[in-house]
Amino acid sequence: MTKEIPKERGIDHTFSLLTEGYNYVGKRMSGMDTDIFETRLLGKKMIIMTGRDAAELFYDETKFKREGALPLRVQKTLFGVGGIQTMDGQKHKIRKAMFMSLMSDERLGLFRTIVKEEWDRKGHEMERKGEAVLFDESEELILRAICRWTGVPLTDVESWNRAYDIGSLIDAAGGVGKRFRVGEDARPRTEAWLEEVILAVREGRLETDPESAAHVVAFHQESGEYLDAHMAALELLNVIRPAVAVARFVVFAALALHDFPEWKEKLNTQKDLNNFANEVRRFYPFTPFLGAIAKKDFEWHGYEFNEGETVLMDFHGVNRDPRLWEEPEQFNPDRFNDFTDDRFTFIPQGGGDPNHGHRCPGEPVTVIIIEESIRFLVNGLEYNVPQQDLMINMVRMPTLPASRFVMDRIKVKED
Ligand code: HEM
Repeated sequence: MTKEIPKERGIDHTFSLLTEGYNYVGKRMSGMDTDIFETRLLGKKMIIMTGRDAAELFYDETKFKREGALPLRVQKTLFGVGGIQTMDGQKHKIRKAMFMSLMSDERLGLFRTIVKEEWDRKGHEMERKGEAVLFDESEELILRAICRWTGVPLTDVESWNRAYDIGSLIDAAGGVGKRFRVGEDARPRTEAWLEEVILAVREGRLETDPESAAHVVAFHQESGEYLDAHMAALELLNVIRPAVAVARFVVFAALALHDFPEWKEKLNTQKDLNNFANEVRRFYPFTPFLGAIAKKDFEWHGYEFNEGETVLMDFHGVNRDPRLWEEPEQFNPDRFNDFTDDRFTFIPQGGGDPNHGHRCPGEPVTVIIIEESIRFLVNGLEYNVPQQDLMINMVRMPTLPASRFVMDRIKVKED
């Protein structure tokens, strides 16, 4: 006997999603006492699921595909049209292997060194300014670091504008009106910049480390051919853009140090730093949900799914699910001391195995940026957090503290 999927009544609920943001899904799950419900968003029937088992189902490639799942508005801003996020099967695996090959221990070690150097530089720059907005500074710092690591030239003159453009791609994904248009405008400009880099690498005008992303992506082959230069630029941007997005986690980490200062004393080992970074990724809101399309009819937990249906997986809810996390509303890095990862419980950047499915390949890069930012904010810098509006608006997606974390009386600590 199959069960009926609970339904949200009404013609379309896009407005509710826009006005409730991150709370939209959780409110309905608890209101209907369910892990799954059907609604209509953007004029389309959608099934929304939460919980660990739902995450496992979502990553079952025999049941779901990504082609056609991403709204064009998200492709025109955040991801680009037709990149890895929309690929399936063998083609996806080949493209994904390219991204995974960038993440060797040696390359990640180099990235950590670069991030440390960039924080040293940024610390002095912020000291000279006296007052700084951490979110903006972090976006620019990360862009510098990721460009050095990927082999993409970036001059001092362009770094702030490029960082602003890339930031606007991320911000536009959940926005309407001007917010959307600013991101939509920035995408062709940013892709053109990287397309020129790809061509310069291919033509030998730009020398790059053979293991850097600019080189790997430029010379990556599928069916014996290089990627079209525009697609290569889009995929290179798929390394650079999400790294810049980590600025949100840097700000959340600073907010955690501000709101829960007792943890500063407990950051003695690398493991402590890693726990703190993971708790930042679990506790603060970032990716709300993501879509896939049923490849065939099937039954799961007594519910019927039909071929062609769009399913949204609630990432945000799983990271705060009280069945999976003790006191999920508490900020407690120590919970990661004895955490055993089953790949579907802690999913700030997707679930499953990144080598096979769509899980984010950039988790080590993300964690390095957060860890080194915490290390610098605690050990490398003295600063004051003046009165400001640090509220996290849960309606805005993606969100961050309203003031973007202003700091003043900034001074680099002497060794
Ligand atoms: C703020 C930090 C980040 C967040 C919240 C994040 C989140 C995500 C999420 C939710 C996905 C989709 C998973 C899925 O489709 O099932 C994803 C995919 C992806 N991420 Fe990240 N990510 C971050 C940082 C990074 C970094 C630093 C990189 C690269 C260095 C990166 C590269 C990618 C790529 C290429 C994909 C597509 C993977 C695929 O479709 O197979 N991300 N990320």
